[in-house]
Amino acid sequence: MIGRLNHVAIAVPDLEAAAAQYRDMLGAKVRPPQDEPDHGVTVVFVELPNTKIELLHPLGEASPIRAFLDKNPAGGIHHVCYEVGDIRAARDHLRAKGARILGDGEPKIGAHGKPVLFLHPKDFTGTLVELEEA
Ligand code: CO
Repeated sequence: MIGRLNHVAIAVPDLEAAAAQYRDMLGAKVRPPQDEPDHGVTVVFVELPNTKIELLHPLGEASPIRAFLDKNPAGGIHHVCYEVGDIRAARDHLRAKGARILGDGEPKIGAHGKPVLFLHPKDFTGTLVELEEA
């Protein structure tokens, strides 16, 4: 059911430092920061030949990234995102298999303008999984 790895998201305490590291040390193509107020994050996209890295930094007090950074002050991998062809069909399949969908279970428009859902990390070996309709 899942297809390509769309991105790996890394929460970072210092967005400028992380972007500079990917650009200057790792030699990656790094996009300018982008505020995503609906998701409570500022994102820097790092474009790799086969996938993307999303550097996430909290935006606003209610940011979902803030608690993660409180627990992981140096930053860390926050989620992985897999592409699916039909996100509602994927959700219904996963629910039928006993997986928990976060939130109200309705796809939201994600950072790339496409519908996304998040799956409970306790159901997926401790990893927050995002599904994106590609
Ligand atoms: Co994501």
